[in-house]
Amino acid sequence: MVQKVGIIGAGQMGNGIAHVFCLAGFDVLMSDISQDNLDKAMDTIAKNIGRQVSKGKVSQESADAAIARITPVVGTDGIGDCDLVIEAATENEEIKKQIFQDVCPKLKPEALLATNTSSISITRLASTTDRPEKFIGLHFMNPVPLMKLVELIRGIATSEETYATAKEIVNKLGKTTASSEDFPAFIVNRILLPMINEAIYTLYEGVGSVESIDKAMRLGANHPMGPLQLADFIGLDTCLSIMQVLFEGLADSKYRPCPLLVKYVEAGWLGQKVGRGFYDYRGDEPVPTR
Ligand SMILES: NC(=O)c1ccc[n+]([C@@H]2O[C@H](COP(=O)([O-])OP(=O)(O)OC[C@H]3O[C@@H](n4cnc5c(N)ncnc54)[C@H](O)[C@@H]3O)[C@@H](O)[C@H]2O)c1
Repeated sequence: MVQKVGIIGAGQMGNGIAHVFCLAGFDVLMSDISQDNLDKAMDTIAKNIGRQVSKGKVSQESADAAIARITPVVGTDGIGDCDLVIEAATENEEIKKQIFQDVCPKLKPEALLATNTSSISITRLASTTDRPEKFIGLHFMNPVPLMKLVELIRGIATSEETYATAKEIVNKLGKTTASSEDFPAFIVNRILLPMINEAIYTLYEGVGSVESIDKAMRLGANHPMGPLQLADFIGLDTCLSIMQVLFEGLADSKYRPCPLLVKYVEAGWLGQKVGRGFYDYRGDEPVPTR
C-alpha cells in the first residue's frame, strides 16, 4: 500500500503534486536541490490550501494536518521510506537520469517510481533505472490542485500491477486518468504545444501583437487563456524542451521550435515563474513585454 510519497523537484509542479497528496492523507517528502525553492514551495502550498479553507472547501483542521504531513528536504534523506517516488524536476533528460541514478539504490525494492515529464520517453527513462516494470509516467496538469486530469503513460516494461496501482492513487486524489501510449509529448502536449508554438510564430511573423493573439484565441476559439499567456504559465523553458522532444522524436519539421521562443529562453524570460515572458508580471497588471 502506498502511504509515503517522495516528490523530487519542488517547482510549480512539485509543489502542486505535494499539495494534492498531503490533502488526500499521504505523507509527503518534498525534495529539491535548492532550499530557496523548497521555502517558496511551502509558502505556495500554505497559500493555496489557505484559499481552499477560505472558500469552505477544506476545514482549517484538515489544512493544518495536511501541511504537517509534508517534510521538505534538500537532498534525498528519507527517500528510502517512500512507497512511491514522483520525479518532477526540470524538463531535461540528463537531469532526470542523474536523479534516478542517485535515488534508485536508496529505494525499497517494492517502491514504485514515476516521472511527471511532459514529453520525454518513459521507456528510455525507465531503462536507466533498476525497476522498469515499476516505472510509469504520471503526467499531472498545471495547476495541479485545480486540474482534473492525470495522463498515465506505460513504458514498454511497465507492469499491469504498476499501472493499476497508479490509477488507484490518482483516483484517491480525486482526479481522473487518460491513458496515453509512450510517444513524444503523449496526448495533451502533442496537441497543445504545437498550437502554442504556432501562436509564437504568429507573433514572430508580425501577424498580430501579443494582446491580439491572446484575445483572438480567447474570444474567437473560446479558450480560457490565450496561448502566449498559457506559454508563460507553463514556463517557456518547459515549452521549448517539449518542442525539441517533438521535433527530434518525430523527426518532422512541423515541430520546429519558433526562433522567438528560443530567444526568450536564452534571455531568461521564462514566463510567470521568473516575472517575465511574453508578459511582464512585475507591475500590478501583466503587460506585454514587447
Ligand atoms: N509547467 C507545466 O505546466 C508542467 C505541466 C506538466 C508537467 N510538467 C513537468 O514537470 C516537471 C517540472 O516542471 P516545473 O514546471 O515544475 O519546473 P520548475 O522549473 O518550476 O521546477 C523544477 C524544480 O526542479 C528542481 N531541480 C532541478 N534539478 C534537481 C535535482 N537534481 N534534484 C531535485 N530537484 C531538482 C529545481 O530546483 C526546481 O525547483 C518537468 O518535467 C515538466 O516538464 C510541467
